[in-house]
Formats: sequence, structure tokens, C-alpha cells
Amino acid sequence: MGSGPVERWKVISKHLGALSSRSEADVADVQKAIMKYNPKYEKQWLFDSLASFVKVIPKEDNYLPSLFPKMAALALKLPEHVKKAIPLLSAGRTAAVTLSQVQISCLLANAFFCTFPHRNACGAHTEYWGLPSINFTSLFGKTSQRKRQKLRAIMQYFKEVTDSPPRGLVTFERRCLSNAELPDWTSSKKKLLQLHVTSQGSIEDDGVGMLQVDFAASLVGGGVLNSGLLQEEILFLIHPELIVSRLFTERLGDNECLIITGCQKFSIYSGFGDRFEWVGPCVDSVGRDEWFRLQRQIVAMDALHFKHPSEQYDVRKVQRELNKAYCGFKKVGAGEPDVATGKWGCGAFNGEPQLKALIQLMAAAEAGRGLAFFTFRDEKTKRDVEQMYKLLVREDVTVGQLYALIQDYCRLRTHGGSGVDLLQFITLRSSRSQL
Ligand code: APR
Repeated sequence: MGSGPVERWKVISKHLGALSSRSEADVADVQKAIMKYNPKYEKQWLFDSLASFVKVIPKEDNYLPSLFPKMAALALKLPEHVKKAIPLLSAGRTAAVTLSQVQISCLLANAFFCTFPHRNACGAHTEYWGLPSINFTSLFGKTSQRKRQKLRAIMQYFKEVTDSPPRGLVTFERRCLSNAELPDWTSSKKKLLQLHVTSQGSIEDDGVGMLQVDFAASLVGGGVLNSGLLQEEILFLIHPELIVSRLFTERLGDNECLIITGCQKFSIYSGFGDRFEWVGPCVDSVGRDEWFRLQRQIVAMDALHFKHPSEQYDVRKVQRELNKAYCGFKKVGAGEPDVATGKWGCGAFNGEPQLKALIQLMAAAEAGRGLAFFTFRDEKTKRDVEQMYKLLVREDVTVGQLYALIQDYCRLRTHGGSGVDLLQFITLRSSRSQL
């Protein structure tokens, strides 16, 4: 097999072409085709997960044998649907890419058939340090209940887009703020804006119409194409068009985020982590904007990953999180909605919910937006955040004063004061009129 892109595409066309001309195909056919143009991975790539997934689909709705050929046909439309190279959303630059939903479906069909060269996962890493993996290969091997459920959501997407191609557009915007565009947290006179805290519901269901936060990894999508099944991965599975961002979005830097406008919701789920289950298809009833994009906006922003929770009580880290959240929340025009968020950075990344809530409140105040904070059934955090907010609003504090307060709290924590939580610290300072 030749190594150039033209030769590679010829081989892909031959084998996916053969697959697409059949009325039905099974996993062995899919595997055979994929391995023809990826021979160097012959010994590494497994397909047991895909095979075991096919077996658990109830017979009456086993749409897969006829779906594989349709997906191969969709993948082969790449030269027709994507005539120009898609620009990279590269590090350090604000830039946007708008794709039609049909283009995205074609690119994702290519990802499914692993046609992108050198864009695979290698263990926990990717072949390019600065770019996420995009080929679906790691979803196909090492079977698990998690992967079977993930594949249900993904195949539901392909079923829908091959039955009736969606007609809208989706915009992916990388936002990179320069130092001059970042707030001076020390001297900010901004006051906290509205906050609604709830332990019920979720960001994606109950934050419709708001800017929804994706608790992201710096390589967007995190472990969506592997075993990960936390907030970000679930978001990407129920809105699979988000996955295409992995094709062209370089690792996010400290002052960067990715904003996605217009992606469609295709699935309903229940549970989280090991208890995640695909429940069924979703009819997306969200309206469209003047660009024919669905009125859904998601911001991928990666919190810091603390190996040990004590690491977060460091002013430089607090400042990094403030800048990151501000970058995500910054408005570009009037009439932009409030933010739907929650325990950003407080699960896999070991952040502390009171501190992260305060950081997001401060960033939202700077950006001029209110916050809806979903604690995801965590009643304690709901009570704590509500109490903290009430106290701070009563004292009419500014963002600058809060920044100074957090600095003091960090000092206390680094000098061994781990028995006092942030809410207790604020309550104490308030009782001494020291806010
Ligand atoms: N809506 C609101 N809150 C949620 C939702 C949801 N849909 N899903 C989860 N949560 C809550 C849970 O309480 C969870 O523990 O948010 C908390 C934090 O979620 P994580 O996904 O663990 O977020 P984070 O700590 O930022 O970890 C990010 O995990 O998913 C990967 O790719 C991602 O590597 C990144 C890391």
C-alpha cells in the first residue's frame, strides 16, 4: 500500500466501497475493511467490544447489519462533502470553524471506519501530543458494559443521520484571551450577579437555552472514545457531533476554551460512570437561529486536575481557574444567556465544590452573566453554596474583595488550617466584619 493521502484514499475507497455495496454486513466485514488500510495495527486493534455490542442489541431492533453499509457509503462521500481542508483550531489563536451537520456526519463516519492517518489512541495517550484521537478504534476493543452502552448512543446517531440527514450548521469556536483581555481580579469592583442553585436535574436537560458548561479535559472529549463516562464523555455521547471537534481542536491552554453552537441531541441516558445506560433516542425540540444552527451552546472548559485536593489552595491556581472560567463565560454581544454549570473540576479532577462555586460566581460577575448551579443530587453542596452566596450578597462584596478573601484562605490552608472550610471561613470573617 502506498503511503500518500491519495493512495490511502484509493485503498479506503476500494474496501469501504465493497462494504457499501452490500445490503448487510457484520462486524467481521467492518474489521476486515478497516484493517486493509491500517495494516500496521493488525496485531494491536481488537473488535471484541463491537462484536459483543452487536450481540446484545435486541433482535427486533437490530438495525446494525444494514447500517454498516450505509455508514460506509456516507464515509465515502468525504471528497464531495468536504472539498477544502478543515483548518485546525490551533493553540494560541481565536478562530472558528462552521460545518454542516451533514459534513459532520460524514467526518464521523470516517472516524468510525478509522480512515484518519495517525489519529489513534495509543494506550492512555494519542499519537499526536497536541491533538485528541479521532478514529474510533479504541471503542471497538477490550469489551466492557461501559463501551456497549457508549456504542448504543453512537450507533443511534449514525442510524438517524443515515435515515434522515440533518440540515443545520454547527460552529466550533476556539477562544483565546490575551493577558490584556483578562480581568484584574485584585481591583475588580464588580458585584456578584444572580445565582440559582438546585440539586435536581442536570446541566444539559435543565440548562436548555443557557450556556452549558462541559467539564472538559484539555484534549476536548476526554475519554469519550475510550472508557471514560463522566460529565464530558456523556455530553459527547448524547450530542455525538461534539466528537468531531477532536479532529481539529488542539489541546486547550490556560486562557482558552472551545464554544460549540448548534449541536443536536440524539439520545436520552440515565446514570453516570459505571451506571450509565443508553435509554433511547431523543427528538430534539430546540429551535434554530438565523444561521440554521440549533439554539444550544456548550462551552468546553478544562479545570485543573489536582493530584491532591490540597494543591488547589494556591493563589496562582485560583487565578488560573478564574481566568479559564472567565474565558468560557465572556460575552461577545448583548442578550447572551446565563450560564448552566455545577461542580466543574470537582469529580475526576479533585476540586472542592465551595471554592469552585465561588470562582465561577466571580467569573460570571466579571462576564456579566447569572449562574444556574446544578449540584447533581448533592444536597450538602446546594446548602453550602446557597448559604455562602446569601452571606456575600448581604455584605455587598466586590469580586476584588472576594479575591483577597480567597488569598487569605489559601494562606490559612497552606499553614495547616485544613479544618476550616471556605464557608466557615467566610462566615467567621463576616461575623468579625472583615469581609
Ligand atoms: N449536570 C450537572 N452536574 C453533573 C453532571 C451533569 N450532567 N454530570 C456530572 N455532574 C457532577 C457530578 O457530581 C460530578 O462528580 O459534576 C461532577 C464533576 O464531574 P466530572 O465529570 O468528574 O468533572 P471534572 O472533575 O471536571 O473532571 C473532568 O473528567 O470527563 C472527564 O474529560 C473529562 O478529563 C476530564 C475530567
